[in-house]
Amino acid sequence: MKADDSHIDKNSPPMILEMRGITKSFPGVTANDNVNLELFKGEVLALLGENGAGKSSLMNVLVGLYRPDAGDIYVNGKKVHIHSPKDSMELGIGMVHQNFKLVDTMTVAENVILGEQEQRFAPKMKEVSTRIREISDHYGLNVAPDCYISELSVGERQRVEILKLIYRGAEILILDEPTAVLTPQESQDLYKTIRQMTSEGKSAIFITHKMDEVIRFSDWVRVLKKGKLAAVKRTADTTPTELARLMVGREVLFNIEKDEFKPGDTILQLKNVELKGSDGIKLLDNLNFEIRSGEILGIAGVAGNGQVELTEIITGLRTIDSGSILLNERDRTNKSPIEMIKSGVSHIPSDRVAMGIVGDMSVANNLAMKGYREKPIIRGGILRRARILDLAKRMISVFKISTPSTNTHVKFLSGGNIQKTILAREIDACGDLLVAAYPSRGLDVGATEAVRTEIVKQRDAGRAVLLVSEDLDELVSISDRIAVMFEGKIIGLVDSNTEHEKIGLMMAGIK
Ligand SMILES: Nc1ncnc2c1ncn2[C@@H]1O[C@H](COP(=O)(O)OP(=O)(O)O)[C@@H](O)[C@H]1O
Ligand SMILES: [Mg+2]
Repeated sequence: MKADDSHIDKNSPPMILEMRGITKSFPGVTANDNVNLELFKGEVLALLGENGAGKSSLMNVLVGLYRPDAGDIYVNGKKVHIHSPKDSMELGIGMVHQNFKLVDTMTVAENVILGEQEQRFAPKMKEVSTRIREISDHYGLNVAPDCYISELSVGERQRVEILKLIYRGAEILILDEPTAVLTPQESQDLYKTIRQMTSEGKSAIFITHKMDEVIRFSDWVRVLKKGKLAAVKRTADTTPTELARLMVGREVLFNIEKDEFKPGDTILQLKNVELKGSDGIKLLDNLNFEIRSGEILGIAGVAGNGQVELTEIITGLRTIDSGSILLNERDRTNKSPIEMIKSGVSHIPSDRVAMGIVGDMSVANNLAMKGYREKPIIRGGILRRARILDLAKRMISVFKISTPSTNTHVKFLSGGNIQKTILAREIDACGDLLVAAYPSRGLDVGATEAVRTEIVKQRDAGRAVLLVSEDLDELVSISDRIAVMFEGKIIGLVDSNTEHEKIGLMMAGIK
């Protein structure tokens, strides 16, 4: 789809910012592919897209943190060259990043003028504090100049970032998923602050993947998908359903053979499970579900809504605050990872390189790492070398792991082949339950198909599978049921035949 200018009418306020044909590549991925963006005075533009769609990259280009491979930026109609955040700030463009960039050991006021002290007409601290109070009152930011950053909550820190940018003269405020770290009340307050800004002719770019925020909050929405601009809509002229479809989209599905769904006994059961983060926020909120033998339960959701935590509590990597976890009707709440493995739980972790392998061990030994607890490989406490090699050769062939030999140290393999090694081992050693987090992330098409086929084979062999994925096509094509997670809760549990749009809406927090 091509974004053209037909959507702009002559009653639009003046265009204050334009990005034209921005392309930015990283090794192996095009984060932004010929993307256009327009921002009008006094308006809010929402940038909507799934994880990895290229939203942050585009904004990092705008504030001079990334140098684009191609494309131009215009501010008030004039072409500009932005090589650093300082350049962008001079043009009145400031960004609040997902990870704040404040100095903990300094006060609010010191952070606000950080980098400005060297100037010849450095402001006096007293004047700075007065100005901070004025801005804080005017925009409802509730920030005190003398507080140390280390004493502030996440929400307060975010308000300091916003205040700092206003203090420095921002006319365009970029907020990268600002509400992800906020309570509902704090989100409300943020809306008010931004409304105040736009009423004064300032503008904002608001990155989000939550549909209700787009609808309530923006004048325009641009949807990014896999680095490309998928759509430009006036918020008033679109619907959550349409946006969900544009955001999630559709791809050619692999046709994976699957036996009829004949679920058996309950393998995994979660009852009233709750997990709190260090700040007391519920990461998992009253989870109740079960997975039966011969069933794949897909977990859908935008990354960061509790999916990884869910895999961690089931595999023993994290302990829950209340509720219970049962495996084959036995209570397995807060058992160690080793106990969970012994109870028959296999785990394909989301961070495979950090958690999944021993780089200085051979491919064969890495593949055998889990199998060695079982009978065929170990006898009388002695590892059976020939068995290990057999197993390794078989897995190398099934998963098409590209390695010079079974003896090669895993650290010398390419990223995709390291992933395949871990996948092969976990799938092969699988007991009753396979917990797979983003199993095809980073894999090429062929390897992706192999992994999906293997997971389905495990299901057909009577195992229970918990499959976390950010790829809706993957979930729909192999799961039997799909649970959608949003802010730590299961917001819906549906049949895998449910339309993409409906699941997309739930991913954005709408039931
Ligand atoms: N500094 C970087 N180095 C390598 N790859 C990057 C970098 N920044 C972003 N990417 C990649 O670019 C793609 C888009 O990422 P990003 O812009 O962060 O997406 P979003 O903000 O929409 O989630 C992803 O595949 C990401 O891994
Ligand atoms: Mg981002």
